[in-house]
Amino acid sequence: MADPASTPRAWHTQPNTRPLSGALRIPGDKSVSHRAVMFAALAHGTSHVKGFLEAEDTRATARVMQQLGVDISTPAYGERVIHGVGLNGLHASELPLDCGNSGTAMRLLSGVLSGQAFASTLIGDDSLSTRPMQRVAQPLREMGADIQLSATGTSPIQIRPVQQLRGIRYEAQVASAQVKSALLLAGLYAEGETEVIEVAPTRDYTETMLAAMGAEIAFKPGYARIRGGVPLKATNVDVPGDFSSAAFSLVAALLVPGSHVRLQAVGMHPRRTGLLDVLRMMGAKIEVVPVSGGGECCDIEIHASPLHGIDVPEVHVPDMIDEFPILFVAAACAKGITRVRGAAELRVKESDRIAKMAEGLRTLGIRVDETADGADIHGGTLHAGVVHSGGDHRIAMAFAIAGLVASAPLKICDVANVETSYPGFASAMASLGADIASA
Ligand code: S3P
Repeated sequence: MADPASTPRAWHTQPNTRPLSGALRIPGDKSVSHRAVMFAALAHGTSHVKGFLEAEDTRATARVMQQLGVDISTPAYGERVIHGVGLNGLHASELPLDCGNSGTAMRLLSGVLSGQAFASTLIGDDSLSTRPMQRVAQPLREMGADIQLSATGTSPIQIRPVQQLRGIRYEAQVASAQVKSALLLAGLYAEGETEVIEVAPTRDYTETMLAAMGAEIAFKPGYARIRGGVPLKATNVDVPGDFSSAAFSLVAALLVPGSHVRLQAVGMHPRRTGLLDVLRMMGAKIEVVPVSGGGECCDIEIHASPLHGIDVPEVHVPDMIDEFPILFVAAACAKGITRVRGAAELRVKESDRIAKMAEGLRTLGIRVDETADGADIHGGTLHAGVVHSGGDHRIAMAFAIAGLVASAPLKICDVANVETSYPGFASAMASLGADIASA
């Protein structure tokens, strides 16, 4: 949990009177950090993770693995050493396993725990306790797992041991890396092969990391197949910077006139960077510069650019699923109308992100016409106001950026949850010249 004494509850922003400038190192990728500690715990041998995201969500995953009997140490900030116990070396926890705010932790752990010889209960905070879990429970039951949810299909998730899981071929109805990953992880414990066919390709970090650890796994965009019973071996992981965290300073640099900013060593996984394509279609000047020896990491160089509204191609939606709050802000500052469709998943994220963004932008004087699966955002001028994040980290950060280009001060309430993905966000923005004050 965040320290309530040092965590701000609200931010006050001022219209930025000078351009943003300088370079910023972006914290470690959340998706990769979760997977690195979770999978290394199931491997044989010792794995060293560098660039681990020091945030509430990823620390929750590390804490759960420790509760399950795994020795994890922290030699330095942003590093973890995990002494893997092998696929069958976890131990039961008497207490429920608390995933905090993290859907990734809860859904991926559902897969892992379905294959154990002991019972477990997964719980989460108020937001996570309202999010849909049937999407993982139903296919895991098809694999033979014994999983109980609440009457409304949410956590607590109660998992009891079964004799043996069996591999299935599953055609997923929602584009979700979390659902795919839960099934592949359960597939490690299943008899035969587990196949997942996706409606649209999603991030493949689970597949690439399990392959690096020696799993028998085949995959291509939209498809993955794993064989059960194959042990994993320890592997060191260098976590790239999180594109989803970079997205906030990226859009800020586009919107604050005269800005020129460089974001360093950001992971450029193609299933994560849909926002870049969409912003470029809107007129953004963004350059991606490879970092020598940096693998998929690149620096991103941004020059402030006038933006215009577009119809966001639906094909980009899964590749920018976490970036819609900040896209809505870019759209509010663009000339004309930006149309988003095919994004109903936004309604079941940490908050109903379509409703929360529409509500906040309307408060600031922007016209937003909501639909079931998106919105039309009419570009205009952002005025003064008080907006509420609904306890959603990405809504809070999106409105902080809006505050830099509004015509008058904003107050953003309920910002403590930024600790789940980007501790230090306000000071990182301050280093570029942004004025976001804590209250
Ligand atoms: C994630 C997948 C996405 C994303 C989430 C992290 C992951 O969720 O929104 O922030 O690490 O697999 P879905 O797979 O449910 O779309």
